[in-house]
Amino acid sequence: MVIYQNISLKPYNTFGIDVKAAQFVSISSVEELQVLCTTFNLSERKKLIFGGGSNILLTQDFDGMAVKIDLKGIDTIKEDDDFVWVKAMSGEVWHDLVMYAVDHNWYGLENLSLIPGCVGAAPMQNIGAYGSEIKDTFEELIAVEIESGKLVKFTNSACKFGYRESTFKNEAKDKYIIVSVTFKLSRKGILNVQYGAIKDTLAQQGIINPTIKDVSNAVMAIRKSKLPDPKILGNSGSFFKNPEIELNAFESLKVKHPTMPGYPVGSDKIKVPAGWLIEQCGFKGKRIGNTGAHKDQALVLVNYGGATGNEIFSLAKQIQATVFQTYGIQITPEVNIV
Ligand code: EPU
Repeated sequence: MVIYQNISLKPYNTFGIDVKAAQFVSISSVEELQVLCTTFNLSERKKLIFGGGSNILLTQDFDGMAVKIDLKGIDTIKEDDDFVWVKAMSGEVWHDLVMYAVDHNWYGLENLSLIPGCVGAAPMQNIGAYGSEIKDTFEELIAVEIESGKLVKFTNSACKFGYRESTFKNEAKDKYIIVSVTFKLSRKGILNVQYGAIKDTLAQQGIINPTIKDVSNAVMAIRKSKLPDPKILGNSGSFFKNPEIELNAFESLKVKHPTMPGYPVGSDKIKVPAGWLIEQCGFKGKRIGNTGAHKDQALVLVNYGGATGNEIFSLAKQIQATVFQTYGIQITPEVNIV
């Protein structure tokens, strides 16, 4: 294990922000990670754990240790007539795992095609898209407890998954490093094609009885048409979460803003698309310095090249303030700001 000094984090975050970490280490085995936790006393250090770096906005040089998790491997660990349990190490690229499942004709991950990032980051915020979330197929994960270096198992319920939420963003924050995640995939599943954009794409292609591959291809086509590729235009996917507001607040807002979309959550809450709010406030496609809200999806803030983390953070604050002034709705970042 080599600990490097003063390393640029630009290659390790999809916003492409050029800040330096005082120390940097890449981890390629669980044992190495356990040594880092115990012998190198990781719990006492200021630290930043990197998977794919696709959900982070770096606003300044980091005067602690950046730990890049590079654990690799995808294996089938159990199977029966109906299900297959697939274990992926946390440093695997998320989309590679999805393709592995799709190529084997196993149901459950196809709607989550092309989400940037690594497997280990997926449970942190219960990644989701087009009507699926990882909680739907998640069986368990193994994490190293940073303080002791011991391996700990988390079941689905122990992860306390919610909309872009898990225990790893709350009680368990900064206490564990995820090393592997096991998914229970189905051999005889049902495809989830209820999301409007998927239905429309399949219909346009004349596909009536879609296969897993068809749904995955449709999701990839939708994402490519709306979401910028971080390799070309730095971004971190949705910058904000979609806010949930009380039903009566939504009804009052509808009187003044009749076109406001909203999706029921339970019986008394409504989820309002943050992208709509940001677009209505005039930010969609608007460039401010080296940053802006993307022209096809206002929820995605982009780095046109050379933006600092603070420039993007200022834009985010300006967007939050304008949305609040206009609608009285507080939108909160989905991305971790460091
Ligand atoms: N909308 C606009 N203008 C925009 C963007 C969206 O008016 O610029 C409105 C439209 O009413 C549209 C609705 O928002 O019908 C929903 O838009 P979309 O289907 O693009 O989904 P989203 O709510 O903006 C969420 C996730 C995405 C995920 C998509 C598809 C969050 C924060 N984001 O976006 O996740 O891909 O649904 O399921 O929940 C991510 O987390 O990084 C991400 C990309």
